[in-house]
Amino acid sequence: MTKFTSDRLLLFGATGDLSRRMLLPSLCALDAEGLLDPDIQIIATARSEMDDQAFRNFARESLEQFLAPERRGGMATFLNRLFYQQLDANDPEGYKALAAKVGEPKQGLSIFLSTAPSLFEPTIRGLEQNGLAGPNVRIALEKPLGIDLASSKVINDAVASAFPEDRIFRIDHYLGKETVQNLIALRFANLMFEPLWNAAHIDHVQITVSETVGLESRVGYYDDSGALRDMVQNHMLQLLALVAMEPPVSYEATTVRDEKVKVLRSLRQIKAEETVTGQYRAGAINGEAVPGYDEELGKPSDTETFVAIKAHIDNWRWQGVPFYMRTGKRMPKRTTEVVVQFRDVPHSIFSGRGARTVPNRLVISLQPDENITLSLMAKMPGLDREGFGLRAIPLAISMPDAFAGPQRRIAYERLWLDLIEGDQTLFVRRDEVEAQWEWIDAIRATWEEHRIEPKTYTAGSWGPSAAIALAERDGVTWHE
Ligand code: BG6
Repeated sequence: MTKFTSDRLLLFGATGDLSRRMLLPSLCALDAEGLLDPDIQIIATARSEMDDQAFRNFARESLEQFLAPERRGGMATFLNRLFYQQLDANDPEGYKALAAKVGEPKQGLSIFLSTAPSLFEPTIRGLEQNGLAGPNVRIALEKPLGIDLASSKVINDAVASAFPEDRIFRIDHYLGKETVQNLIALRFANLMFEPLWNAAHIDHVQITVSETVGLESRVGYYDDSGALRDMVQNHMLQLLALVAMEPPVSYEATTVRDEKVKVLRSLRQIKAEETVTGQYRAGAINGEAVPGYDEELGKPSDTETFVAIKAHIDNWRWQGVPFYMRTGKRMPKRTTEVVVQFRDVPHSIFSGRGARTVPNRLVISLQPDENITLSLMAKMPGLDREGFGLRAIPLAISMPDAFAGPQRRIAYERLWLDLIEGDQTLFVRRDEVEAQWEWIDAIRATWEEHRIEPKTYTAGSWGPSAAIALAERDGVTWHE
């Protein structure tokens, strides 16, 4: 891997939503802590006409809205690091002025593309033709990286024509989340889980990513995408890969990604009856009435806002262990969690005394609360005249309590810093993205072949009843 740090940043899509909510606030927070180069310059670009000052005003408003007040200490200095260059990414002529604005970095340049994927190709071309793709330049790409395998290959080829893989940083912001990284620590820094982490001891795994929000302001994008491509193709498959991968030999970009891609390639093709899709109708969330998807959209649509999948990983470790995944908008609560359901003890010595054991369950809550809970069987206190009393009790760790000092960070802070310093461990490699798309494309083909249409569900519910049945057919209850 090429080692250099970046003292120039170039941000495409600088006036977009992600930039306002996440990218600028993350950079400001890093700068305030002295984690960026002291002479860093950040060149922002987008289609809108504005000058440096206007962009600084725009950035200030974004920071005031999206960065916690206690983290805004260095805001004035940060704003002075921002520069703006208007650009129509499709106009090859515009890149000259952009290159002039970027100037000569002392060490290196990191470019972040937070634009529509249709602009990736012309942007790469413009960068390359104007000296902005040299050996001291790294490039980060924000999702969506295509809409299927074919289109993602086109993007990957275009980027690869100007940048080698070790300077391409594909973002999946879930990997920037502290709690997602903690999954790796939990599995591989503790002795007790790994010997049990296989089909002999695990009955099934559940991965849930539920959101209370609806379409938000992303009408155009979301309706063309749907839950499968928006959430499963990237975030959920990355979570699944981290839960299921073999122990990497070290915590390095190549070794970790080698293991993840093996899992992604072992995913069995889904049968029609192993997936359920849904679309929300008007309902209520936290007591507040919310409209249906079609009403928000302003027209009927067959885009899914919910998907549940029963997945299988065809390898030695996971043979016969279903991975139930579900994600949806307008669910009753916002939660991301991984549930590892262990098998029951092979023989209960207590059954003669009327006691029933309940299999252990590990619940890893990633957000909004960061908790790890292991349910353990314990004896209920008493003289047991009416039988031996056993009950499942939680062994619970709250991460914020365990680590009261360090502050919560935006996932993009970590990702920016890794990009700037050139650490690819938490970025997605080309073969991973392509394996993800291959599996997703097959699901969409199955939906089409069997004419699977989203079933309706009431906003504020856990999706269509068929999703509950998907697990219950196997005697499994979704964890709620
Ligand atoms: C994005 C999706 O990638 O992730 C959104 O496009 C979704 O639809 C978001 O809301 C969820 O991210 P987080 O960090 O809020 O769980």
